[in-house]
Amino acid sequence: MHAPIVSIAALPQHVGQAVTLRGWLYNKTGKGKLAFLQVRDGTGICQCVVFRPNVGDEIFAIADKLPQESSLIVTGAVRADARAPGVPGGYELDVQSLEVVQRAEDYPIGPKEHGVEFLMDHRHLWIRSSRQWAVLRVRATVMRAIRAWLDGHGFIEVSTPILTPSAAEGTTNLFEVAYFDEKAYLAQTGQLYNEANIFAFGRVYCFGPTFRAEKSKTRRHLTEFWMVEPEIAFCDLEQLLEIEEQFVSYVVQTCLRENANELKLLGRDVGRLQRVAPPFPRITYDDAVRTLQEMHVRMKAGETVTAYDGTPLQGIEDPDLLRIEWGTDFGSPHETALTQLYDKPVFVTGFPSAVKAFYMEPYPDRPEVCKSADLLAPEGYGEIIGGSERISDGALLERRIREHGLPMEPYKWYVELRKYGSVPHSGFGLGVERTVAWICGIEHVREASPFPRLLNRLYP
Ligand code: 4AD
Ligand code: MG
Repeated sequence: MHAPIVSIAALPQHVGQAVTLRGWLYNKTGKGKLAFLQVRDGTGICQCVVFRPNVGDEIFAIADKLPQESSLIVTGAVRADARAPGVPGGYELDVQSLEVVQRAEDYPIGPKEHGVEFLMDHRHLWIRSSRQWAVLRVRATVMRAIRAWLDGHGFIEVSTPILTPSAAEGTTNLFEVAYFDEKAYLAQTGQLYNEANIFAFGRVYCFGPTFRAEKSKTRRHLTEFWMVEPEIAFCDLEQLLEIEEQFVSYVVQTCLRENANELKLLGRDVGRLQRVAPPFPRITYDDAVRTLQEMHVRMKAGETVTAYDGTPLQGIEDPDLLRIEWGTDFGSPHETALTQLYDKPVFVTGFPSAVKAFYMEPYPDRPEVCKSADLLAPEGYGEIIGGSERISDGALLERRIREHGLPMEPYKWYVELRKYGSVPHSGFGLGVERTVAWICGIEHVREASPFPRLLNRLYP
């Protein structure tokens, strides 16, 4: 029999025909003369029904005893049956023949509960599990949507270096590497190079891995993460925010359209995501601090503080975590609380210059505040984008580098950009893993990365 080799995702086009599937045994149940093999092939899961009289005793015995994650090739007729229990895609295969490619032994991940550390130690296998599979498929869509939107809006992708001579986002979380007789640092951002590239190309982006020696063990921090960084010439902060809200909305809507199955498998409440459309609310840092201070007082007084929809605020175990003075940066609890006041992602603008990077343009009438904006994702997810208008004046930029205690030498080229046709310009960076965690509704960014790098994890 010459059945075509097809993927599980393509089964709807082959109903009533004989096809061959190649994949791995995900799960198995059975009863009497029937064995139900859940086979996955990377594109989906299909229930393959092995009926003893159809395949003969020998093949039936093999199928009936096949261990989880064995690789196999099955041929049979495709049947649409949405009512059949345990049929994820609504299609079944009536098996006519079956060949085992390799018989797996003692696969360590079973249906029973495993601890996170155990699963992380087995990340090379865990990615086969359906939830992890779903998250990483959404990640791929996010990355594709990022490129599609930017490529469709006049941006060109210009790669920036990973080995760099200097810091851009603070000196406390730099990874240092030996570079022959010199020191180099793994890039914390491609932004400074993007700022050179806009003078050649107008609108650019870089997209790649980014490194931060984060000593913090939070659900939002990785030491290696992927960031897309668009940068735009002749663009002020207000124009930047309009680009960001269009861009983020497109990425979310693309996932809803292309990953409906994955989001369903993850149990994601997509109603919240469907409302992600421009415009996003904007609040100033000043107002955000005032709001947080009020929340703190009310919570201390035993009042119930409510989210945008009137339900009690979640995830703030201790009201004192919301304590904040003007001039300090937000911590995770502040973002967790603020985002629950809005139905959509919210921009916080005008942070104190002292807590932000050296390159941010100060407001002329209020230089202690800068033209910066963070975008906080709803439902407690917090910052997914950091962005700003950049300093365009060379003298001011030099002063800020000095005030930040940074050496001038490595930034000579960066300052020089301000000498030859300087223009107002702005840009932002969006973290892929945080965005994926939000869209998937998962607790921790580590599951949004295929092989996460964390404070205590460099394996596998
Ligand atoms: O706010 P950040 O540090 O901004 C920059 O690096 C700018 N140079 C970007 C730019 O304007 N071109 O980082 C931007 C985003 C954050 O909002 C967050 O989504 C993500 O990068 N991010 C992290 N994600 C995971 N783990 C970490 N340790 C992260 N640090 C930042
Ligand atoms: Mg930031």
